[in-house]
Amino acid sequence: MPEATADIAVVGLAVMGQNLILNMNDHGFTVCAFNRTVAKVDTFLNNEAKGTKIIGAHSIEEMVSLLKRPRRVMLLVQAGTAVQSMIDQIVPHLEKGDIIIDGGNSEYHDSNRRHKELNEKGILFVGCGVSGGEEGARFGPSLMPGGSPEAWPHLKDIFQSIAAKSDNEACCDWLGEAGSGHFVKMVHNGIEYGDMQLIAEAYDLLLNGLGLSQDEMANVFDEWNKGELDSFLIEITANILRYKDESGESVVPKILDSAGQKGTGKWTGISALEYGQPVTLIAEAVFARCLSALKEQRVLASKVLPGSPLPQPEAFKNKKDFILKLGQALYASKIVSYAQGFMLLGEASRVFNWKLNFGAIALMWRGGCIIRSRFLGGIKKAFDTNPNLQNLLLDDFFKKAVSDAQESWRVVVASAALSGIPTPAFSSALAFYDGYRRPVGPANLLQAQRDYFGAHTYKLLTDAETSVHTNWTGRGGRVTSNAYQA
Ligand SMILES: *[C@@H]1O[C@H](CO)[C@@H](O)[C@H](O)[C@H]1NC(C)=O
Ligand SMILES: *[C@@H]1O[C@H](CO)[C@@H](O)[C@H](O)[C@H]1NC(C)=O
Repeated sequence: MPEATADIAVVGLAVMGQNLILNMNDHGFTVCAFNRTVAKVDTFLNNEAKGTKIIGAHSIEEMVSLLKRPRRVMLLVQAGTAVQSMIDQIVPHLEKGDIIIDGGNSEYHDSNRRHKELNEKGILFVGCGVSGGEEGARFGPSLMPGGSPEAWPHLKDIFQSIAAKSDNEACCDWLGEAGSGHFVKMVHNGIEYGDMQLIAEAYDLLLNGLGLSQDEMANVFDEWNKGELDSFLIEITANILRYKDESGESVVPKILDSAGQKGTGKWTGISALEYGQPVTLIAEAVFARCLSALKEQRVLASKVLPGSPLPQPEAFKNKKDFILKLGQALYASKIVSYAQGFMLLGEASRVFNWKLNFGAIALMWRGGCIIRSRFLGGIKKAFDTNPNLQNLLLDDFFKKAVSDAQESWRVVVASAALSGIPTPAFSSALAFYDGYRRPVGPANLLQAQRDYFGAHTYKLLTDAETSVHTNWTGRGGRVTSNAYQA
């Protein structure tokens, strides 16, 4: 028997797996690398891993025999059947108390199920969201682990060592039970969709509203990156806009305006609908990608559907001032998007009893990942100050930020509408804000309509307990729809 010297095994030697292994090795851990196609193990050991302490295994049995106890096996294989098949093959070789970590982009329902199934066998399961792409994996990702809490003391040191750091704190902490890690990662990706859509709309207004050049726009994003909008996505947007190809021309105008998606934004939208949370901005961001993909239809429609004569909105005339307003509108909309994302996290935490730590989530997103930004420091502070904060918008800091930005925000959304430039993310964020801060909305009329055509009954402002039915038409019977639901 070989000596069990490895701290952790990583299964799956695609780029994410390889980079995480090298990162762990840099931090002094002994990692055992394994891939189902074992030739990949030797290629890795003889190339990227040459001269390191990394060891390889050529079978699952060998991998397990090389691990210290409790054994820690981290999977970085494709979500779905590949993850399941690897778990099924590894588990028979493990003992009670050993730990399986799924670092792929698994769907949280799958992680909930695996957590339960493995726990019944005495194996600890951790579903861990990993963000930051290849670069992050190599030099400091954002890690979002959740699952069996007993596993955390055995992982904390490795995970927090390799994770990105923000103000000397690791962008990795324990989230909660079962599939919570993958749920938080999913919401992270949804928020990423929202941030990207907001930036795209700002770009659209700068380009088609103000008529700025690519370089001028790059300067605007650079400027924004020095203030409260300071973030990875704003930074790369400036770099992208400034980039020139071999012919010295900007690249963005040459790119087909039809967006792809892998599904995590869609899943966030589906969860929002499932748990009844108005996560409107992310949903709009997903639909905006869907609309973008209808390129042929849009080209056709552009020849058929007119905008009414659209004079230039007053606000576009002073470019400098509009750019200022646009930055404020972007910030306010972003605050709404994160407020909505945390509403979804809060409801899922309640439904699944995960007891999510919202401050820790903000910290995990503060560095390492795609949505990393200065702004998340403020969110962490808000939840640290009040862990039971009902909504981010109610925190003093963000309440003031939105209220300071609100006039500009309205000018931007109105000007966009007047000029026919679609801003679904900016607009839906503002609509949410106005809807959320209203004590009385128009849903009384919806209730009346429901009672009129379906006898669904309604309640009165003065008595929220008793169901009332009105004989609206004179043809109504005594029976309400509630009666046949009983
Ligand atoms: C093996 O490595 C390839 C990349 O070389 C990767 O795509 C695959 O997920 C890995 N599979 C397993 C089960 O290790
Ligand atoms: C509904 O109104 C009509 C007309 O006023 C009346 O004839 C009927 O009895 C009413 N139905 C009930 C259930 O009160």
